[in-house]
Amino acid sequence: MSASRARLGVLVSGSGSNLQALLDACARPDYPAEVACVVSNVATAYALERARAAGVPAVVVDHKAHASKVDFEQALLGALREARVEWICLAGFMRLLSADFLGRFPGRVLNIHPSLLPSFPGLHAQRQALERGVKVAGCTVHFVDAGTDTGPIIGQAAVPVLPDDDEKSLGARILVEEHRLYPLAVRLAVTGQVSLEGARTRVAARATTDALALRSPGAME
Ligand code: GAR
Repeated sequence: MSASRARLGVLVSGSGSNLQALLDACARPDYPAEVACVVSNVATAYALERARAAGVPAVVVDHKAHASKVDFEQALLGALREARVEWICLAGFMRLLSADFLGRFPGRVLNIHPSLLPSFPGLHAQRQALERGVKVAGCTVHFVDAGTDTGPIIGQAAVPVLPDDDEKSLGARILVEEHRLYPLAVRLAVTGQVSLEGARTRVAARATTDALALRSPGAME
């Protein structure tokens, strides 16, 4: 089984709770992927501890240690190649990747973002949602293009915004859904049930669409 599992490279910058969700999914014998390596651009990221605890190679490629973005991405590529990575999962990775870099993994780079895109891309998505007064928030998994959280959407999950929410409480509610959605989206992507076709997400079957559909907050209470 293990020889046929898709090899994931997970890029992180922080706590790595989404990395943990992927590691936990990959620990299940029937999951079609394994984490081949974790790369952080931040040496102190707790995600590195999570990788080591799971016995997964963990590498630091610090963007500040490289003179240019091109150099940084070359180093990133080197680490991913060494681990024979086939798919890249951005999990709280706070750097933008260039079109050149993404071209090395066509249709094989996924990201998770804590908003219902295309609303609230970029930093502090939860704060943006609260400031705007939306009543429904959530998270999105999407194929990555060279924009900021702009690529074709694979799946979304919704949570209610409650009257007393602050960034922390809303963020925690969204994270629960992130941890459910990301492993599901990765499973569907690596098995070809969802794929990137041109600039759109192609979904192979209706059942797949249903699994990735936005769930209404009412249904979640
Ligand atoms: C997650 O909420 C993720 O969606 C977000 O960073 C957090 C990382 O948490 N990513 C972005 O905002 C990307 N634009 P984690 O390190 O605990 O997985």
